[in-house]
Amino acid sequence: MDLTGRTALVTGSNRGIGRAIAEALAARPLALLLCGTRDPDGYPPLTPPAGGAREVRPVALDLASRESIDRSVDGLGDAEIDVVVNNAGVMTGGLLEEQDVDEIYAAVQVNLAAVMHLTRLLLPGMLARGRGKVVNNASISGYAYFPAASTYAATKAGVVAFTESLRRETKGTGVTTLHLVTPGVDTEMLDATDEVYGGHFDTSGWDRQQPAEWAAKVLAAIEDDSSILGPGGKTAIAKLASRGPAFLLDRIADSMFTRTPRG
Ligand SMILES: NC(=O)c1ccc[n+]([C@@H]2O[C@H](COP(=O)([O-])OP(=O)(O)OC[C@H]3O[C@@H](n4cnc5c(N)ncnc54)[C@H](OP(=O)(O)O)[C@@H]3O)[C@@H](O)[C@H]2O)c1
Repeated sequence: MDLTGRTALVTGSNRGIGRAIAEALAARPLALLLCGTRDPDGYPPLTPPAGGAREVRPVALDLASRESIDRSVDGLGDAEIDVVVNNAGVMTGGLLEEQDVDEIYAAVQVNLAAVMHLTRLLLPGMLARGRGKVVNNASISGYAYFPAASTYAATKAGVVAFTESLRRETKGTGVTTLHLVTPGVDTEMLDATDEVYGGHFDTSGWDRQQPAEWAAKVLAAIEDDSSILGPGGKTAIAKLASRGPAFLLDRIADSMFTRTPRG
């Protein structure tokens, strides 16, 4: 997609990967970049470089409930959104019997229900204009179902399924989709993995890309109309193994997981 003169919206754009994608989009000649955040007043300033987006506007976008999403989209007014990047997410993990049920529901809401709901609200405009792109931030967890990540993996597998189904459904309409098989990216979420996995899963050997490096790949995938952005690096091996017989991922999982937390 040629981003010249287009309008893009990024959810969870105040920090982490969403912030890096927003910064990369701001460097493109967009007409308008809408930076979704729960706190627009506290949004860290984002000034587009020369030749970049004509306008960058933080907008209130809270994905925590059905009502907050409806309210947020009403607040966007009549902006004609060409690209939506469903990026915001939360991580859950640890042994299932120890996970907080409220946190499981919150993760299903933000990671999966909100992606479907927001896309459902923006899609009619895209279809009417005959152009649009839906970019969904999944994860390697949407492919490789490791222990101690059951609930998070389920939400991300849902994102992959949703995006791929929608890709086929919108064929020939001018609307396209892209899902990101995001590997380890150096953000607060990745920093929290040890704590969230409760010491059951050793993530120390994982790839750790910088957000800007990953965002540059995301922008290239948007611009060349890829439908999937693979993780690259060592993580690509886990993705490949996930499509083969289960014993391949079992071997990898066995080397990283213990039911008794590591010391
Ligand atoms: N980092 C990784 O290694 C990695 C790997 C695979 C996939 N991913 C995926 O990449 C995406 C971004 O992750 P990240 O690493 O950048 O995480 P992060 O640094 O923790 O940032 C998460 C973002 O999501 C926003 N968010 C959370 N709940 C929200 C809600 N209810 N409404 C609106 N925004 C909400 C946060 O906003 P607040 O600041 O207001 O909380 C923040 O902007 C997620 O979908 C994640 O699952 C990350």
